[in-house]
Amino acid sequence: SPRLQQPAVDAAGIDAGYIRVEVEPGQLRETFDRMRALGFIGCNVTVPHKFEALEACSDVHPEARSLGAVNTVRFDSDHTRGFNTDGPGFVRAVDDEFGQPLSTLKVMIVGAGGGAGQAIAAQCALQAIEKLVVVNRTVDKLDPLVNRLRALGPTTDITALSFDDPRLIEECHACDLIVNTSSVGLKAGDPCILPAGCLKSGHLVYDTIYQPPVTPLLAAANELHCRTRNGLSLLIHQGVLAFQHWFPQTDPLAVMRQAMAPVS
Ligand code: ATR
Repeated sequence: SPRLQQPAVDAAGIDAGYIRVEVEPGQLRETFDRMRALGFIGCNVTVPHKFEALEACSDVHPEARSLGAVNTVRFDSDHTRGFNTDGPGFVRAVDDEFGQPLSTLKVMIVGAGGGAGQAIAAQCALQAIEKLVVVNRTVDKLDPLVNRLRALGPTTDITALSFDDPRLIEECHACDLIVNTSSVGLKAGDPCILPAGCLKSGHLVYDTIYQPPVTPLLAAANELHCRTRNGLSLLIHQGVLAFQHWFPQTDPLAVMRQAMAPVS
């Protein structure tokens, strides 16, 4: 994030720095108080603090509450306000990359039990998509997730599967967009997260991982001539939305894209 936020701050002529601060779990409230006292405008919060941040803010935007996590904080004079730009950033990334609104797609989320997966699944439910399939290795996480999703998107047809569920291939084929929100693909030697036969040509495939730029999932999808995109656009769009919470009436998209261009 410093790599895309600092150029945007500089381009807007704002005299400020975007710095990294390492925080121990359980210390977020105290850290926010100290940042506020030091004159910070706001901050981003990343794993593993996104759930704790929701509790540590004095005012949480309803969308962030629905998504269950806070990744952007603004220190106003009266409140420490929490927002979530991961979910809305994903909506923009899909629209931008595939030219199709998320709300019109049937979506499978693979690795839906992690922080990113839960936020993106919740965003899909909030968009009232027709069909949502969530897949996770740890099946115990699925029931509570599905209950939360059903409350957010009562009209969405929601299915939860483990990787060894015999319906996996058929459910995958019934979806338009396959999204990897797991960490599988980050490390060299990682396998393709989905078993053979799940992907078909015509699928849109989005991996929230952007480094490496082509994960084993995207490589398998490319073989089938699927349209594929990595998570760089999500990183950029969540960053744009965060920046706009701190500095309204700005549009840092072009600067952030330029700053991240060498990565793509
Ligand atoms: P967080 O985003 O909360 O930090 P994470 O530990 O990075 O979580 O994991 C993100 C997702 O990747 C989870 O859905 C996780 O599955 P579990 O809920 O079963 O832990 C998934 N994941 C990580 N390694 C995996 C693997 N080898 N196979 C399948 N899924 C995996």
